[in-house]
Amino acid sequence: MCGIVAYVGHQEAYPLIIKGLKRLEYRGYDSSGVALLNGEGLKVYKKKGKVADLENELKAQELHATIGIGHTRWATHGEPNDRNAHPHYSQNKKLAIIHNGIIENYAVIKQALAKKGHQFNSDTDTEVLVHFIEDLQESVGCGLEEAVRLALQEVVGAYAIVVMDANDPTQLIAARKSSPLVIGIGENEYFFASDATPIIEYTKEVVYLDDNQVAVVKNGALKIVNLANENQIPYVQTLEMELETIEKGGYEHFMLKEIFEQPRSIADSMRGRIQADEGELQLGGLRPYMDKLADAKRILIVGCGTSWHAGLVAEYIFEELARIPVEVEYASEFRYRNPIIKEKDFVIAISQSGETADTLAAIQLAKSKGATIFGVCNVVGSSIARETHAGSYTHAGPEIGVASTKAFTAQVTVLTLMAVSLAKRRGTISEELYRQLLIEIAHIPRKIEQVLKAADRVKEIAAIFTYARNFIYLGRGINFPVALEGALKLKEISYIHAEGYPAAEMKHGPIALIDEDMPVVFIATKDSSYEKIVSNIQEVKARKGRVIAIVTEGDSFIPSLVDFVIEIPKTHEILTPLLATIPLQLLSYYIAVMRGRNVDQPRNLAKSVTVE
Ligand code: M6R
Repeated sequence: MCGIVAYVGHQEAYPLIIKGLKRLEYRGYDSSGVALLNGEGLKVYKKKGKVADLENELKAQELHATIGIGHTRWATHGEPNDRNAHPHYSQNKKLAIIHNGIIENYAVIKQALAKKGHQFNSDTDTEVLVHFIEDLQESVGCGLEEAVRLALQEVVGAYAIVVMDANDPTQLIAARKSSPLVIGIGENEYFFASDATPIIEYTKEVVYLDDNQVAVVKNGALKIVNLANENQIPYVQTLEMELETIEKGGYEHFMLKEIFEQPRSIADSMRGRIQADEGELQLGGLRPYMDKLADAKRILIVGCGTSWHAGLVAEYIFEELARIPVEVEYASEFRYRNPIIKEKDFVIAISQSGETADTLAAIQLAKSKGATIFGVCNVVGSSIARETHAGSYTHAGPEIGVASTKAFTAQVTVLTLMAVSLAKRRGTISEELYRQLLIEIAHIPRKIEQVLKAADRVKEIAAIFTYARNFIYLGRGINFPVALEGALKLKEISYIHAEGYPAAEMKHGPIALIDEDMPVVFIATKDSSYEKIVSNIQEVKARKGRVIAIVTEGDSFIPSLVDFVIEIPKTHEILTPLLATIPLQLLSYYIAVMRGRNVDQPRNLAKSVTVE
């Protein structure tokens, strides 16, 4: 949601900011804008639509400046249009601001400013904030830096902001609370962005701003203070990300690239953690917390969307192997109940982006009640990674497609490693099973390579169902969350209505939907539910439903019952989701492409949902 890019230094700011905004497109947005400061003053340019639309509109203009701010907006206050796009000017047009987040008390501030004669040109909370900052500058008689701090002391809500001053072409002021902001440090130049993707082309030295910190770049120097104006020592980190990881690398879409990256991304999730031949398994982040986890009375897992599905897979594996009760909750529900959390609860928070507002709030709630919180995040240095007591990164690499693919399988991999390690520690699995699982886990990347070879077959099936209006996905046991994930993938990128159900639940309602026009995807691998799922398939076929089945290679019975079959290699039952998910990702991808959808940036969706 919303992307921020800002620059001050010696390069041309405009092309650099436009390129940066394009790198942030994956976050989801509906309008964009830039503000530049040069000898002609501070000018704002903005437009509804894609960054390319803005670029097109400005192509005849000479836009030279070495300082500027840029933004992609995902509408919260006011519809997506040119007026509401960022940057916003202050009343006297001396300041311009870009903002990611929500100022919850903006209406009260706006009312007070209106009484003083302020006139607003948009419906946004952001414009109110920049008016407020300017008003404080004038009424208190202070500089911009102090005015920003004073304003933020009054503000309720979430923000990452960058403010630019018409009177100072060397200065950018940024601040953050609950919305991410990274500062890149180059040679006499500074970059600001919502994540590191617009920055890595220029520098790998970055500082992740913390909540309630204000960063001031002025005359080539960076200083960081808190809202009380106390100096903060910047923690400069070196990014490990490579530029090619955020480029399409010859694939038509990021989503396809990310699907095909899974043999490598899963291997990366395991790297340095598992040595199957020696029977070794260690997650560095978990080691100091293993006693707590082993003693836990209950494991609580929180997450949203696909991360929640990964949690459901993990519930099955933890309970099966480690025999500790697990509850999986939508973070958005958990945070607004009055959940019973005890000190001996071990909470696992799952998030690709590490910025999901509901998951962050759920963590804060559980923490306030004394629970230990362990993060399973993909984005290094993200808010959730920093808010949790400990964690294990999934190391899937940057995921740019809005639909989560490799992040999901990486989450399931890390959670599986945790469960196996815990089971060994608690003595709830035999040495033989432990060894066998490690070997099977190590084989997963190779088996995924094998599944990916069926891409053309999946594409043929996709062509047959491109214009379906509905889909049902069914699975049992550990494959029920795979069904949920398959349905979510299809609906978010193709806009086809799809539902996932436990296969046995079908008889309690959804079976009424089955007719010759209803495609039903079964995850029907040879596992402990095989006979049961065969019965469910027969129930669907008896009602003329059209069945696509994901089966274990060598199965000759289910292919005789169903319309289409996709084979996956045999593996241990608890690892099936890692293989069965892949054809479902491909099916959604090809259907969406054939329907002409914007696969990487589906409508209305944002990659990281930083508002609740
Ligand atoms: O970054 P997170 O994993 O916390 O994001 C959670 C969901 O917003 C995310 O999984 C969403 O459901 C994806 N679009 C699914 O593909």
